[in-house]
Amino acid sequence: MTAGIRFRSLLSFILVIASVATITVLQRPEKARAQTRSNADGLTRPLAKGLDQAIVNSALQSIEKGREAFRFDTFGDEAFWGDTLNLDATIAGAANGGIGPGLTPKQALGLGLKVDVEALPAALKDQLRAGTVNLDDPATTVALLQLNSVVGVKGFFTNGALSSVGIQCALCHSTVNDSFAPGIGSRLDGWANRDLNVGAIVAFAPDLSAFATLLGTTQDTVRQVLNSWGPGKFDAELALDGKAFRPDGKTAATLIPPAFGLAGVNLHTWTGWGSVTHWNAFVATLEMHGKGTFFDPRLNDAAKFPIAAANGFGNVRTTPDLITRKLADLHFYQLAIPSPAAPNGTFNVPAANRGRGLFAGKAACAACHVPPLFTEPGWNMHTPDEVGIDDFQAKRSPDERYRTSPLKGLWTHTKGGFYHDGRFATLLDVVNHYDAVKGLELTEAEKQDLVEYLKSL
Ligand code: HEC
Ligand code: HEC
Repeated sequence: MTAGIRFRSLLSFILVIASVATITVLQRPEKARAQTRSNADGLTRPLAKGLDQAIVNSALQSIEKGREAFRFDTFGDEAFWGDTLNLDATIAGAANGGIGPGLTPKQALGLGLKVDVEALPAALKDQLRAGTVNLDDPATTVALLQLNSVVGVKGFFTNGALSSVGIQCALCHSTVNDSFAPGIGSRLDGWANRDLNVGAIVAFAPDLSAFATLLGTTQDTVRQVLNSWGPGKFDAELALDGKAFRPDGKTAATLIPPAFGLAGVNLHTWTGWGSVTHWNAFVATLEMHGKGTFFDPRLNDAAKFPIAAANGFGNVRTTPDLITRKLADLHFYQLAIPSPAAPNGTFNVPAANRGRGLFAGKAACAACHVPPLFTEPGWNMHTPDEVGIDDFQAKRSPDERYRTSPLKGLWTHTKGGFYHDGRFATLLDVVNHYDAVKGLELTEAEKQDLVEYLKSL
């Protein structure tokens, strides 16, 4: 598998070099055109050479390496998910050397796990089409893991048996396009997997004592909390402050946001914890439990983050460091993922055009969601009052504010609702909320136009 990826990376690198060479050769005879080349955007620029070419090459290599890390790196976290929680044992089941009934492919798909069709051999695809693959047998799940086809989950094998399991960024921040079957298709990196029931998957592990000890509670309570999250949600702050539920009794978990269209955006996460790379280091060490370095003395605030402060999460140094040297490429890759354009026919064009006018005009949305970033250039944060919501989640973060969500690609994550906790089920609910708290006095038709515009972004 890894050899295949290396080969593909090498191949695309060779193709890039080859096409640059071809352009140079083709254009040599004509002096006027020799120094220029047309780009995908239709603009003509001087052909890169010398340092310019070195920068382009370095960028392409960084994107390749970052993609590899985003999709396939566990950062050594199998020591936690496999060796400590023993998740591999309950996935395999007793019949395959583990414990219990095991996890069938049907159950795995039901939990929102996705299968990368490009990792499946042709023969297996034929069998799947013919319906001769047993999707009720955990042995099939183990085989899919061995093919490295389960998005975001890596199986480790000893003498052909599943011996450990690790997780990758792609688990939560990639989905598939369902091109083969529901849950089976080509990867869509950066898309939030709003089908994924992270809590139920973690709760499937037989040994949750690591979480129970950390949170000072019982494994039963941990399991109850994990099962309260539901699909598309994860609680990145639970291991810092131990708050599992909001004052109204609902889960404290937040929606998985997309990881595309992030370039130009200053602060990230719902509550603006930091830059992309700050959060990548945070997640890889503290949430995925990979091996690496993370420094953020804001976590030493024992009143706000009692668990983080007591456990020294503000200054983590695990050796060997498998994370730090990958952060630059990982950062580069995420910044390179464009927001996917809304497909034709999924919104009403004239209405969206009217909505654009309202967004910048009467509804004043663009004051915060500044096009084309749709967040503020600068310190893109607001108090809970400014957006008319409670401060529970904001208070669980260093700056106690909400970050202005960049709105591009909203159409890819309508499942689970909008705002950090999905409190607004539809975009119309969002618009109605602003209409009420900001006293916008929008007509029903204007609200619909705004919704069509939001769908078009
Ligand atoms: C278990 C699910 C999960 C995994 C695994 C995960 N994330 Fe996230 N990610 C989330 C959630 C949930 C948030 C929102 C956290 C918050 O606001 O408190 C988030 C936030 C982000 C953001 C901020 C996006 C924005 O809106 O600005 C980025 C970037 C990101 N993750 C990248 C990564 C990378 C890179 C990895 C791997 C190193 C990773 N994530 C692993 C669930 C996950
Ligand atoms: C005062 C600044 C501000 C203004 C004005 C504003 N927003 Fe927002 N918007 C935010 C913030 C902050 C969030 C994130 C809320 C959260 O995390 O719960 C947000 C979130 C959203 C979301 C949810 C995004 C997601 O990923 O779930 C949508 C949709 C949205 N705004 C649309 C609008 C529209 C439409 C208007 C105009 C009617 C508007 N906003 C006006 C600051 C603003």
